[in-house]
Amino acid sequence: MKNNDTFSKTLLVAVTLCLVCSTLISFTAVGLRDIQDANKELDKQTKILSAAGLLNNNLNISDLFKSIEVKMVNLETGLFDESIDSSTFNEGSFSRNLDTSIKLDKTQDVATLKRRENYQSVYLHYEEGNLVSIILPVRGYGLWGTMKGYLALEPDLQTIIGLEFFEDKETPGLGAEINNPKWKSKWTGKKIYSSEGEVIVSVIKGVVLPDSSNKDYSVDGLSGATITSKGVTNLLKFWLGDLGYGPFITNMRNGEIKDV
Ligand SMILES: Cc1cc2nc3c(=O)[nH]c(=O)nc-3n(C[C@H](O)[C@H](O)[C@H](O)COP(=O)(O)O)c2cc1C
Repeated sequence: MKNNDTFSKTLLVAVTLCLVCSTLISFTAVGLRDIQDANKELDKQTKILSAAGLLNNNLNISDLFKSIEVKMVNLETGLFDESIDSSTFNEGSFSRNLDTSIKLDKTQDVATLKRRENYQSVYLHYEEGNLVSIILPVRGYGLWGTMKGYLALEPDLQTIIGLEFFEDKETPGLGAEINNPKWKSKWTGKKIYSSEGEVIVSVIKGVVLPDSSNKDYSVDGLSGATITSKGVTNLLKFWLGDLGYGPFITNMRNGEIKDV
């Protein structure tokens, strides 16, 4: 009888098994990549629509998203820029590339981004030809990592419609409560800028009292998650300020750029 219990045969079985398994995993990963990308895109579209309060159970996401126009904005000039293709734009590669981003120094980098891309996509929603909401991608560091989301504004560019995150690394039950519908609903109607044009909207520690003089600019803090709450305040401060969408918002408000 043949002896199979040798070192070389055991090694051969182990190596063959590894090769078969890794080939299977590689084929599955490559085969599923398109589906994963499509799902990621659908999730982003869902969050954009949700931030603007446009989700509707009776219509599918792709149909709803047809009412949204995507435009590229040059963040330096605050003007629309058609030289960048919005369908292939990737904020990650733009913000890493030294030619398409700026380095932020400590005093500027309130959202802990390190670098800021020079372009961003903005989403414009129209109803019967009228602009009804502007949705801006925002991101910034929480406690454990970068929180990425969308902020929807009314055409006055002062009133918030909604804030929706699609990616975060915060702790479930603590920082991840940024995804709790009850907390998210607190953003609707909040104002951003003081009369001097400073970004003063913030997540406070504790509950916003009805008689507080700042109640229109404040959102309840997440209990046990002050660091995440501060992260949300900071990312709004950055993206609504001069190094974020500030120049674009000023241009839109002054009628320097047309929405269509
Ligand atoms: C395991 C663990 C996970 C935590 N996750 C978060 C988090 O996601 N966000 C956050 O702000 N704080 C988190 N904290 C708490 C912070 O360390 C810090 O205590 C808290 O932000 C302070 O908030 P408070 O002043 O409301 O208590 C976590 C703490 C522990 C021990």
